[in-house]
Amino acid sequence: MNKKILSIIGFMLSGLGAFATTPVYLDESQPLEDRVEDALSRMTLREKINIIHAQSKFSAPGVPRLGIAEIWCTDGPMGVRPEVLWDEWEQAGWTNDSCTAFPSLTALAATWNPDMALLYGKSIGEEARFRNKSVLLGPGINVYRTPLNGRNFEYMGEDPYLISRMVVPYVQGVQSNGVAACVKHFALNNNEINRHTSNPIVDDRTLYEIYLPGFKAAATEGDAWSFMGGYNLFRGEHASYNPILMNQILKGEWDWDGTVISDWGAVHDTKTAVTGGLDMEFGSWTDGLSNGASNAYDNYFFANPYLEGIQNGTYSEDELNDKVRRVLRLTFRTAMNKNRPYGSMGSDEHIQAARQIGEEGVVLLKNDNNLLPIDTNKHKKIAVIGENAIKKMTVGGGSSSLKARYELTPLEGIKNRFGNEAEIVYARGYVGDPSGEYNGVSTGQDLTDNRSPEELTAEAIQVAKDADIVLFIGGLNKSNHQDAEDSDRETMALPYGQDELIMELSKANPNLVVVNISGTGVAMPWVNSVPSILQGWYLGSETGNALASVLAGDANPSGKLPYTYYASLDQVGAHKLGEYPGHKSIDALGNEVMDMPYNEGIYVGYRFIDKNKLKPTFPFGHGLSYTTFAYGDATSPKIFAKGDDKIEVLVPVTNTGDRKGKETVQLYVRDVKSSVDRPVKELKRFKKVELNPGETKDVSFELDRDALSYFDADKHEWVMEPGEFEILIGSSSSDIRSKTKFKAE
Ligand code: BGC
Repeated sequence: MNKKILSIIGFMLSGLGAFATTPVYLDESQPLEDRVEDALSRMTLREKINIIHAQSKFSAPGVPRLGIAEIWCTDGPMGVRPEVLWDEWEQAGWTNDSCTAFPSLTALAATWNPDMALLYGKSIGEEARFRNKSVLLGPGINVYRTPLNGRNFEYMGEDPYLISRMVVPYVQGVQSNGVAACVKHFALNNNEINRHTSNPIVDDRTLYEIYLPGFKAAATEGDAWSFMGGYNLFRGEHASYNPILMNQILKGEWDWDGTVISDWGAVHDTKTAVTGGLDMEFGSWTDGLSNGASNAYDNYFFANPYLEGIQNGTYSEDELNDKVRRVLRLTFRTAMNKNRPYGSMGSDEHIQAARQIGEEGVVLLKNDNNLLPIDTNKHKKIAVIGENAIKKMTVGGGSSSLKARYELTPLEGIKNRFGNEAEIVYARGYVGDPSGEYNGVSTGQDLTDNRSPEELTAEAIQVAKDADIVLFIGGLNKSNHQDAEDSDRETMALPYGQDELIMELSKANPNLVVVNISGTGVAMPWVNSVPSILQGWYLGSETGNALASVLAGDANPSGKLPYTYYASLDQVGAHKLGEYPGHKSIDALGNEVMDMPYNEGIYVGYRFIDKNKLKPTFPFGHGLSYTTFAYGDATSPKIFAKGDDKIEVLVPVTNTGDRKGKETVQLYVRDVKSSVDRPVKELKRFKKVELNPGETKDVSFELDRDALSYFDADKHEWVMEPGEFEILIGSSSSDIRSKTKFKAE
């Protein structure tokens, strides 16, 4: 072909190209903000209104005319929720939506391992992506203020620094799939009782030092693409559209460009929601389409009432445009991101991840005389007792309830691991909650047992007496008033007469191991009568395998408590000084609310324990191993010089036992002399190191001035007062092994 013909063809093709030019908003090579502006400029007022509220229980409509995709959300935060009907909470009955159930977030936090958080986020994000979801409604990171909170199991414990280090990689892992994390519930949603009317009364210093750091890290370091507002109130306004939380702090001080999604049904008013920083309204308690005149979703506060308000001049379109921009950004980052990976579901990698995170999260609380790991040369007959050994736990507990592809119970895992080496005998011991159904998903188990408590106890004691080692596997479950949404626990005590049973078992056989399955702390009046105790959490699909490998020593336990294990509510600042669950009051709009003064202020968890010199059952950061670790002397320069922006602290740690193991070395900071009241010490760094027997590693930490600062509410900034700082290095918050000091200028 000669040159002339070629150039004619070229000209014709370029003409066609011009004809078919991709609009900017669909062109992924264009900058995100240009695409957003272009899309916005093409939308009608009605389309803008449509895009900011739900069209079904879990989706928003996008802009069909322009090919702007729908947004599909899913719970979160421990597995991808099964599909529900368009406008019902009931199951849609799909057969392809069974997920891998990952360990509870408390278990993840107990790994104290940011790599595990990244693996968790990546894996759950892949499942969400495979199911074509744009937003994963998690992680939950509300601070563990009271052991009674029904949703502690969905969160990451009591310490703002630990939460911050774990939430960032979780968010990054999820979002590497082009799926947005939706960090919840911003903020101060620290109890389930009265969750729609709780009005925490919290001063600024407490807010900034305790309740905000996790969210700030998620927004500014993790670059979370969405946040969910809580149901609760704060300073008289609902959290989901609280001008202080959303406008001033999240979008103002943190300069965040993501999307604020309401909790489901958390909006109560158009005007305040419009101005209070909410971007998208989700969830309704209506029965939807059958109830509404045409479309129930038109009745949303962010639907017709907002549209009419704009048309009659009550609201400006500027506020609406800001919300639409944020929703478009979310859409382009997720559903309309052509480069996002395809995801996967139930893969071997996910199963392996669930198991690994579970094994690293289990906490060995106590192990007198090295009763564990199980040694089948000595322990030829293993008694397993307790309902939680056979009960599936991934169904129940509220919105985090799952339809798992499978869930291996502790007893199944123990049989798999030890069945060839030892005899395993099971006794129920007590009957707790034999049901197993949530929103139409059933575990398929029938745990009905009509024997009397006396018969069950007698059988358990006999089985215990005849065994070489006894594993009592009990704790809480996901029934109301246990680890469950929408209700708090009524007491710290174990339910169903387990305390009495454990005492009886300890008399029947001294080789007793208690495996406590729960997502929060329970009272342990029998703690001195039981030689070995494990905190087993809810570990999802791989529960049985993860627990069995820790019991066998295939996995050397390395979990540490992400919260204080209180002996009683008297040791909890929220109960001792604060008001829980608060008192009735009438807000400015005449509504009844529950005022809840957080009188304990910054003294949450170990900060309260330290201040009052209390002895909890187990301290924050505690967790044993089947090996032992020795700490050498911590060292640091004597001066943190004015011109320097960081100072290094070093501590050698040695594995002094005969097994490979991991230790989380914790660094706490104490301001020796301060002009304001400060905690005795605060966690500011930690590092998990793996050591072979006899091996020593120098563990190094870098501290900046932020790590030495407190929040000065009057100046509204973090302040480091020059002077002496003591650095306490420990294996837990109460087991300080080495100290060093420096003067900060
Ligand atoms: C919960 C949220 C959840 C949402 C959707 C609400 O009741 O508080 O955490 O994501 O429901 O299921």
